[in-house]
Amino acid sequence: MTYGPTSSLAAAADLSLAPIDITAVLDHLVGEADAAAATSIGFPGAVDLDQSEVMARLGARLWNNIGDPGDEGGVAHTRVLERAVVAWVADILAMPADDRWGYVTSGGTEGNLSALHAARRRHPTARIYYSTAAHYSIPKAVEILGARSVVVGARPDGEMDYADLAAQLRKRRRWPAIVVATAGTTMAEAVDDSTRIRAVLDEYGVAGHLHVDAALSGIPLALDGQLRLDDAGGIGSIAVSGHKFLGVPTPCGVVLIRDSVRTNGSHVSYTDTVDTTITGSRCGLAAALLWHAVALHGREGHRWRVSEARTLAAYAVYQLTAAGWPAWRHGHAFTVVIKTPPEPVRKKWLLATDGDTSHIICMPGISKGQIDAFVADVAAAAPSTLIPRPWLAPETATSTAAR
Ligand SMILES: Cc1ncc(COP(=O)(O)O)c(C=O)c1O
Repeated sequence: MTYGPTSSLAAAADLSLAPIDITAVLDHLVGEADAAAATSIGFPGAVDLDQSEVMARLGARLWNNIGDPGDEGGVAHTRVLERAVVAWVADILAMPADDRWGYVTSGGTEGNLSALHAARRRHPTARIYYSTAAHYSIPKAVEILGARSVVVGARPDGEMDYADLAAQLRKRRRWPAIVVATAGTTMAEAVDDSTRIRAVLDEYGVAGHLHVDAALSGIPLALDGQLRLDDAGGIGSIAVSGHKFLGVPTPCGVVLIRDSVRTNGSHVSYTDTVDTTITGSRCGLAAALLWHAVALHGREGHRWRVSEARTLAAYAVYQLTAAGWPAWRHGHAFTVVIKTPPEPVRKKWLLATDGDTSHIICMPGISKGQIDAFVADVAAAAPSTLIPRPWLAPETATSTAAR
């Protein structure tokens, strides 16, 4: 049996009604996802990695890494793989081997919360600064922590307004600062310049912590050598998502915090682990999938994936612009920012939209054919508005914003 609209699926899945046709419900979900795959270019999940071996072999058991990833005791199903993933990500970020700690999280959001929690423990009176382009998980973490925040302006291309950061810091220089830089803002994939942020903190003599929310761009920029957590950079922590560039088929992520900054937890006797992570039980399957995603390609293979995705994004800008539709991207980005197309196109292509601006994201696995079909739909939907000439990015946008 197949189901039509979502409402009939909801009726079929209603657990208060028996009997339930489990196979039909699962088939429906898979069918819907398969049908949407060809036009899913609005959200940042890579679709080129085959994880079926891990799912087939590990998918039927509970894999639970309870407690600190460095512990030897307790329930440690895939902790060895978790440690390997954390070490790989720390290595590509050039994080000092003697001052690093991290774990596999449930996603970028948990990573941000964990890092800000650690920073705030160290600087309890700190104000947390983030830009208007920061992800909504940042104000949420601020609220959970009961901290005070300062919202800094962002430029039209999504990058932090450093003059505004300086002005806000100057007014609050008696308190420490926790500054959140974003490496890959959600709408435009803009990258805040951590060197400039550090310079502003130094100029006003404000002590504090610099966290980088690098959900999407952390791994690509690390592979480029453009994002580093070495001693010179002054970055204290970073959070990345695992289901974005690494395409893991379940939400997950990695948080890395300087060992000297991280939160020391207490030992829990019945789990025989130290409680240093935000959640207690943690998904060991995600750690295995992350490990497999890294192992499949290694550093060079993942560099190649980055470069292919950027090439496709440049192609998309070129084709859209040639068709007369406004489009631009940052030089490092997979994300192509476009003038919002008419609703039928937005709906068909599952675009993320913020008013006049939408984006497509050329993640690894998206094909040229998909981009061509999208451009054809845009051109067909609004022929009268097409202006066949290059459309320039917002004035402050740079073609190489990554750093
Ligand atoms: C900049 C940024 N930070 C954090 C997140 C949240 O990541 P997750 O969905 O893995 O919790 C996102 C997700 O889109 C994001 O774009």
